[in-house]
Amino acid sequence: TANNAAPTPPMGWNSWNHFGAKVTADDVRHAADELVASGMAAAGYRYVIIDDGWQGSRDANGVLHPNAKFPDMKALADYVHGKGLKFGIYSSPGEHTCGGFTGSYGHEAQDAKTFAGWGVDYLKYDLCSFRTRLKGKSLADQTAMMQAAYRKMHEALEATGRPVVYALCSYGWGRVWEWGAEVGANLWRSTIDIEPGYQSMMFNAQAQQGLERWAGPGHWNDPDMLEIGNQGMDNPDMERTHMSLWALLAAPLIAGNDLAAMSGDTRSVLTNPEVLAVDQDSRGAQGRRVWQEGPVQLWAKPLADGTLAVGLVNTLDHPLDATLDFKALGLAGAVPARDLWQRRDLGLIDATHTFDVPAFGVVLLKMGKSATH
Ligand code: GLA
Repeated sequence: TANNAAPTPPMGWNSWNHFGAKVTADDVRHAADELVASGMAAAGYRYVIIDDGWQGSRDANGVLHPNAKFPDMKALADYVHGKGLKFGIYSSPGEHTCGGFTGSYGHEAQDAKTFAGWGVDYLKYDLCSFRTRLKGKSLADQTAMMQAAYRKMHEALEATGRPVVYALCSYGWGRVWEWGAEVGANLWRSTIDIEPGYQSMMFNAQAQQGLERWAGPGHWNDPDMLEIGNQGMDNPDMERTHMSLWALLAAPLIAGNDLAAMSGDTRSVLTNPEVLAVDQDSRGAQGRRVWQEGPVQLWAKPLADGTLAVGLVNTLDHPLDATLDFKALGLAGAVPARDLWQRRDLGLIDATHTFDVPAFGVVLLKMGKSATH
């Protein structure tokens, strides 16, 4: 079963959504610098993760070496650790990663040792070419093969003695949420790849509906990394919706933007402490959509202090007035509420209270007895 490395959803930065396979050691160093300089590290973003594109080839002894863009992986990990951050990397149970680089197939124990030697604290393990091995097999056999492959790397990581956050990536294939924790994972991708746009973001968020019971402290559903601040997802209202939904879903918060070019708006969306507290709530409940009518959606997540985090989402391209369905929220009468993006108490609100929700925007509230400050 899973280790203790992720009592709350992991937070950090990953190179893929902005840099893709072109990522270099300097990009990663700069990202670590910026995580600290921007205040994101202090807000809780601590994993600096290199995605696909770092791998070179194996030597005569089978040891995997980085490519020329990463001349000294140990030194890079030391640099990241020296900033008080954690270091993450990417591989695949297949011969090849999704980008066509060398995967860990047949070298799991050796690669786990190499990673531990560098000081890796987080491994994203992406199905990729392993999928070709599943062709023509029954669904039951496919699932068993995936489980065995993922468990193998888990055991190899355990054998190194180094605590490593273990992130599976199978795009939801094999109903991974049903057994991810059993094979030692702390999180698993439950969707196809996110793209920097409103529709893709909403699609991945809504695909989490029904998966609530598989998430909890130590093991999380992962609707994919954040696109906040990337072109196509750089309107503050959309960014707030993206962030609110990921927080309500208790999703891992792995930023994927170019931190050096981040706007003030993007930074404040990524670092709002009251919204981060919803994501990182110790109860670890995954919220869900409790009500929907036309373009309006209502999401709720119960928090450890007995309050409720509530998201009122407007999926239209123009603003609208909306009220909260108190019945769907399990609330009655007048309830203390705080607006988490405006960071102000609203006092007592009831089912007649209307909210002006921006185009593609959200109102995120904390509701209940101790919700106000
Ligand atoms: C897959 C994953 C992505 C990314 C790429 C890298 O598509 O789902 O998150 O890791 O591979 O090639």
